[in-house]
Amino acid sequence: MTVTIVGAQLGDEGKGALVDLWGGDAEIVVRYQGGDNAGHTVVDGDTTYKLSLVPSGAVRGKVGVLGNGCVINPATLFDEIDALRAQGIDPDVRVAERAHVILPYHRVLDGLEEDRKADTALHAGTTGRGIGPAYEDKAGRRGIRIGDLLDPAVLEERLQYVVGYKRAIARDVFGLELTEAFDEDHLFDLLSGYGQRLLDEGMPIDAGTYLTEAIDRGEQVLFEGAQGTSIDIDHGIYPYVTSSNPSAGGAATGTGVGPGVIGDGEIVGIVKAYLSRVGTGPLPTEMLGDAADVADEIREVGGEFGTVTGRPRRIGWLDLPMLRHAARASSFTGIAINHLDVLAELETVKIATSYHLDGAEIDTVPPTTEQWARCDPVYREFDPWPSADWDAVSRRGYGALPTAAAGYIDFICDALSVPVYAVGVGPKRSQTIMVEHPFHL
Ligand code: IMP
Repeated sequence: MTVTIVGAQLGDEGKGALVDLWGGDAEIVVRYQGGDNAGHTVVDGDTTYKLSLVPSGAVRGKVGVLGNGCVINPATLFDEIDALRAQGIDPDVRVAERAHVILPYHRVLDGLEEDRKADTALHAGTTGRGIGPAYEDKAGRRGIRIGDLLDPAVLEERLQYVVGYKRAIARDVFGLELTEAFDEDHLFDLLSGYGQRLLDEGMPIDAGTYLTEAIDRGEQVLFEGAQGTSIDIDHGIYPYVTSSNPSAGGAATGTGVGPGVIGDGEIVGIVKAYLSRVGTGPLPTEMLGDAADVADEIREVGGEFGTVTGRPRRIGWLDLPMLRHAARASSFTGIAINHLDVLAELETVKIATSYHLDGAEIDTVPPTTEQWARCDPVYREFDPWPSADWDAVSRRGYGALPTAAAGYIDFICDALSVPVYAVGVGPKRSQTIMVEHPFHL
């Protein structure tokens, strides 16, 4: 059986906590898109593990797979594996041979392009990890794949074409003085070294076959989406998006497991009880002006600063049109709601239930970002709830939630016609109330 975890909003919904909670019953945890732009923190007792690429389940003794839909920076991958080994964990990580590689020049080009866009409406505020430029090369059929690192003759041939191309862009378009990131011999030595290490550690796999065989043997597989639906390259607020598909379709194309198999399993949307955003672009429910104080409060209590970049996140009220869009695009079978504790003690709590757009009322996200920027949220106010001993609430279960907080959750579930599987009331592993376990349904 499979369970797919999908970010229902803008990333940073606290997916890691649920992967951690439910991944315990899985044999394999798989990432299907993105790269080291994702940041997750796994807390185990007194030890904290910071990961951006290695699937978080690998910390708990699961096999961690990076699917073909990922873009992999081998430097980050090996740094994370080495750091885990230094902390006494030897993670079992497998990498799809079809996955693309982030090269040093991708990061340089990410920075150059962001600088050039800085004063324009196109500035996306990327994480600077080279994600977009790597996917660009994938689509442009000039990318280097993990499998290419394993065969020096193929690697040499691929580099010969692409490095000349990248040098020309960096020098002639951006006026860059070229560094070793654009040197073919340097890149060949670096990448073939990575290839050798991948082989020595037995990491390369044909992900689709590997995973399908495991599922056929009756193993449980958890697909761990990174980022969120509203920054999906197809379903998000283009161009303020990441360059992959966090929505559930990505779990099929990004691993080689068929959509029928993914759809036969559970697909759980992870919802933060409010919105947070690290990048640029419109955000209709953003708390600005008079609401800026509330945003500051939420930012402080919720620790809303980027895991990868440290940037303060923008804060908004929960947006139901955004959630309806995500639930449809990914066929959510259930949702988990996180950070409910962060809203405790506010004077009022709001949810945008629909938008006014150009004189009409709509209840989902419009197709263009310009239309979305013109959307005026229609709010419904909810009774606030008091703070609580959240440890005790998590021990006692859903029924112990403050009544108004439970009403807030019920409203969201009714609006989306999906059940709630879990509620997060704090950052600790023990502070998630499990209502249903998707592997046991
Ligand atoms: P990129 O993925 O680094 O290319 O960044 C593109 C957009 O996605 C930017 O707005 C980033 O802030 C956003 N983004 C990328 N990764 C994450 C994430 O893990 N959480 C939230 N936002 C992200």
